[in-house]
Amino acid sequence: MRLTIFNGSPRGKKSNSGIIADYFLRGFIDGNEKRSKTYFIKTIKDQKEALKTFNEGNAVVIIFPLYADMMPGMVKEFFEWLEPAMKKKTKRPLGFIIHSGLPEAVHSRLLEKYLDRFGVKLSSKYVGTVVFPGSEGFMIMPVGMVKRRCKILTAIGKEFTATGKFEPLLIKKAVKVEKYTGFKLLLLKMVMKTGIQDFYWRGMLKKNKAMKNSYDRPFAE
Ligand SMILES: Cc1cc2nc3c(=O)[nH]c(=O)nc-3n(C[C@H](O)[C@H](O)[C@H](O)COP(=O)(O)O)c2cc1C
Repeated sequence: MRLTIFNGSPRGKKSNSGIIADYFLRGFIDGNEKRSKTYFIKTIKDQKEALKTFNEGNAVVIIFPLYADMMPGMVKEFFEWLEPAMKKKTKRPLGFIIHSGLPEAVHSRLLEKYLDRFGVKLSSKYVGTVVFPGSEGFMIMPVGMVKRRCKILTAIGKEFTATGKFEPLLIKKAVKVEKYTGFKLLLLKMVMKTGIQDFYWRGMLKKNKAMKNSYDRPFAE
């Protein structure tokens, strides 16, 4: 099976989506990398290029992060380019892998519902959506930590090559926490009071010289 991966991260090549794609491909490739190709959809030029491949009939996996509880704007734009593809559905397998900074899967469920409908419109062999929460910081984590979390993606990739499907049991395993409740939630609230979870984001704001804009409300006026 030939596979096309679309990486829908606004960060492009250096992204958590890229790392997730790599682990999926480790399972999929099985010693034959020529059978897969990754496209980025960061710019309109990229999207137009990617669109040509979308119509070639290869199996497709679209990987992107959760942005403001939905997909990044450029992914939505790419989806709109795909409208003509809905008119001539093919039998090629098509699935999505969505991941989020937050560790709870519940944040991605609305988007998953959207993709369940969209996927069926795009292909008569929609294979499902993998929700993979807690991807924030993958790029800066030690490989050992990421590897442990991503093993499941390699298993999903392997199963995909063998059967052309996303195995429902493995999709379930990709989620560690659906929603924090009870004692764990209480503990989390206590940790949040220390402000320790802001460390990473503060670092990002500083790096991008955007600290002074962190309370901006551009849509409020
Ligand atoms: C502008 C922006 C909005 C985001 N919105 C959410 C969100 O609503 N929920 C969430 O869990 N993570 C959110 N995140 C975190 C990303 O999903 C997370 O950092 C992801 O790993 C980024 O993947 P990438 O490197 O492939 O772009 C957001 C990140 C950014 C930069």
